[in-house]
Amino acid sequence: MREYTTRLLPGDSLGIREAAALLRAGELVGIPTETVYGLAANALDGGAVGRIFTAKGRPQDNPLIVHIADWEALPPLVAEVPPLAKKLADAYWPGPLTMIFRKSALIPDEVSAGLSTVAVRMPSHPVARAVIRQAGVPLAAPSANLSGSPSPTLASHVMADMTGRIPAVLDGGECAVGVESTVVDVTKETPCLLRPGGVTPAMLAAVAGGVSINPAVTSRLPEGAVAASPGMKYKHYAPKAHVVLVRGTPEDYAAFVNARRDEPVTAMCFDGEEGALRVPYISYGRRDDPAGQARRVFDVLRRLDEIGAKTVYCACPSEEGVGLAVYNRLLRAAGFEVIDLDR
Ligand code: TXA
Ligand code: MG
Repeated sequence: MREYTTRLLPGDSLGIREAAALLRAGELVGIPTETVYGLAANALDGGAVGRIFTAKGRPQDNPLIVHIADWEALPPLVAEVPPLAKKLADAYWPGPLTMIFRKSALIPDEVSAGLSTVAVRMPSHPVARAVIRQAGVPLAAPSANLSGSPSPTLASHVMADMTGRIPAVLDGGECAVGVESTVVDVTKETPCLLRPGGVTPAMLAAVAGGVSINPAVTSRLPEGAVAASPGMKYKHYAPKAHVVLVRGTPEDYAAFVNARRDEPVTAMCFDGEEGALRVPYISYGRRDDPAGQARRVFDVLRRLDEIGAKTVYCACPSEEGVGLAVYNRLLRAAGFEVIDLDR
């Protein structure tokens, strides 16, 4: 892999122009989106897309999302635009929604990882939209973290993971959503949720009349099963610490962690519930504010590594609304280890 001096570009017109020029030249750039930062390349250039996998250390069989800025960019990338996709796009594009289509011949195998489908999304972040338009091509972009580490929600997270590996990171500030986009398969009558995100199951059902949820969203894929979305089979979002989710009332959670105060434990708790804890803690949002938890969860997972946390007991979030996305990410960070104090 080539070694780069990685530059942090400002998210202004000069920075955007430079990022677009690098992308047109087949280089990789870290770009902000409203969900998480992406590691972008020209989606129509198989060679450039191939270097994304090297820079991230990503398994070759995990396909990428193609980012567009305008509706007109979609039809050339896909075999057909199902009516359901048009309805969902009218409601939620631009925004944190990725849809799976049957792909057209324009999509290189590096993007789809050998599948006959392609994932497409239209981000709402103004800097992302400007870079896509100026590059003049759709951009393939996975989250801009090293494979296996928490997704980046700040330019500094991307710099920490990608310095030396790519020529530039475009700074667009803190990501407003904080967890990756909702991924939904629209190739069937009823949309099927493959990864929860900022667009909730209720929001999908409100437009589509119904939604099915792939079982891998909330449970471990059985050994040897084929993942509908290859990303679901990897552990993912894993901090170096041993994370365990703990489900229970604030009182039971506090009693549980306090009973382990002589062990090297850190509590990952809700805002306003720290007072009862007798162990070191980091809070990640209010218990009743899933959107706030989504914005902070990945930054907190990174900080746990910075402080060298050994065992992290994380207060389990609600699965309601955007909470389902937070729960899904934490479940993977915890390798599906959940202690249920309510039982
Ligand atoms: O919010 C996001 O979606 C961010 C930003 C940068 O846009 N991107 C992102 O990309 O999260 P990535 O590569 O980290 O996650 C893409 C997910 C993976 O779980 C992958 O398996 C799934 O989408 N995926 C991609 N193409 C697919 C396809 N054709 N069929 C099923 N799943 C697909
Ligand atoms: Mg990712």
